[in-house]
Amino acid sequence: MADLDNFKIAKNYHLDVPFEMGNFHVKGSAHLDWGMKKRLSNLFDPKSGNTVMFAFDHGYFMGSVSGLERLDILIPQLLDSVDVLMGTRGALRTSVAPACGKSIALRTTSGSSMLNDDLSHEIIAVDIQDAVRMNADCMAVQTFIGADGQLSSLDNLSRTINEGLRYSIPTMGVIAVGKQLERTDRFFKLATRIVAELGANLIKTYYCDNFEEIVAACPVPIVVAGGKKLPEQEALTLAYQSIRDGAHGLDMGRNIFQSQYPAQMAAAIRKIVHEKATDKEAYEFYLDAIHAKE
Ligand code: R5P
Repeated sequence: MADLDNFKIAKNYHLDVPFEMGNFHVKGSAHLDWGMKKRLSNLFDPKSGNTVMFAFDHGYFMGSVSGLERLDILIPQLLDSVDVLMGTRGALRTSVAPACGKSIALRTTSGSSMLNDDLSHEIIAVDIQDAVRMNADCMAVQTFIGADGQLSSLDNLSRTINEGLRYSIPTMGVIAVGKQLERTDRFFKLATRIVAELGANLIKTYYCDNFEEIVAACPVPIVVAGGKKLPEQEALTLAYQSIRDGAHGLDMGRNIFQSQYPAQMAAAIRKIVHEKATDKEAYEFYLDAIHAKE
C-alpha cells in the first residue's frame, strides 16, 4: 500500500474539459462489450444520455414504508415517466408486470434491517443466475465506505462485478453514508472513486457541494438518490442541480412515492432529466399537472 503521508487533497479537476466518451453515450463504457453496452443503453437514454430511475427497494431493510404499501397500484402510475425500476426480486416478481417495458435495476445485496444499530453488514442475496433469469439491466450493491462493514461490502461489490463481467450485466455501486460520516464532498469523492476503480459501471450517490468535482473525478455515470422527502419544489431543485452539475440521472424514491401526486412528480423530474427543464419550469409543469388532475 502507498505511504499515506504527504498526500495532498486533489484539486485539479479540469472542469472545463469534457470526459473523453469515445463512441458510446455512457461515460467510461466505450470499451465494454456489446452485451454490457446494450444493457447500459437500456438504462441510459441514447439521446439525452440520462435516466429517470424509480427507487422502491426500501422494503429490503425497512419493510413496508409509507407510500410503498401497494406496489401493484403505484408502479403502473409511474410507467409513463420513469426509465428504470429499481427494486428487489421479491417486489419485482410479485408486483411488477414483466411486460412493463422498463429497464430493471435489481437490488442484489441485503442483510440489514431497521431494527439493527449497524446497517453496514450485508450479503450478496441474489446470485448471478437469478439476475440473468430476471433479465436485469444492472445489479445494485450497497457499499459502506468508512463504516464497520466496509470490507464485506466491497467484497460483495467485487464479487458482483466479477460475475457481472462474466455475463455482461452492469453493476451499480450504491454509496451509503454511515451514521458517523458526514455528507461532505470529500467523503463522496473518496467513495465514488473507490467504487468506480473497483469496476462499478454506474454509481448511485447523494448530491452535495462541489458536486461537479465529484462527477469530474468519477469515470462512470453518477445517478443521484433523492433522500428524505422534501417539499416538491425543493426536490425538483435538487434534481435540477444534480443534472446541471453533471449527474446522468436521478434515482429517486421517497420524493416520488411519498408525494401526494407521485405520477405528476415523476413526470416533472423527467422534464429536468431528459428535456433540460429548469427547476422552475418543472415545478410549473407539476402544478399544471395536478390542477389538470383535480
Ligand atoms: C438506498 O439504500 C435505498 O435502497 C434507496 O434506493 C435510496 O435511498 C433511494 O431512495 P430515496 O430517494 O428515497 O433516498
